Amino acid sequence: MSDFEPTIIAFVCNWCTFTAADLAGTSRLIYPPNVRLIRMMCTGMVDPKYVIKAILEGADAVLVSGCHPGDCHYINGNLKARRRMKLLKEILPRFGIDEGRVKLTWIGASEGVDFAKTIKEMTAEIKALGPNQVKNAMVL
Ligand code: FES
Repeated sequence: MSDFEPTIIAFVCNWCTFTAADLAGTSRLIYPPNVRLIRMMCTGMVDPKYVIKAILEGADAVLVSGCHPGDCHYINGNLKARRRMKLLKEILPRFGIDEGRVKLTWIGASEGVDFAKTIKEMTAEIKALGPNQVKNAMVL
């Protein structure tokens, strides 16, 4: 199990977390290469179905990350995302999915260090959880 490398799908807001990821890269910060970014205009655009689909189709974890509350470029998209992710995390265990596989964070455009730290921590957490078993149970 020690050679398990999780795949983390990250839905990131264009204005904040995507910019932070770019900053982490240009600052040459080191973080695990386990994350695949999907740039959205706002976390408010992340339909919970996207998260479930990512998990069913092989992701070991999903990160949703955007602007801090009060900084959303679409006023309250991040607050909508927070409500949706809270409800999603409540129903995931009913489908055999550990709620720890889904995470919501706020990472501002200037917080490249926080982005790298979040990816490091999340990779370690998902390594401890082990591979997503749901993807193997699904017959698509
Ligand atoms: S624009 Fe970044 S979360 Fe809404």
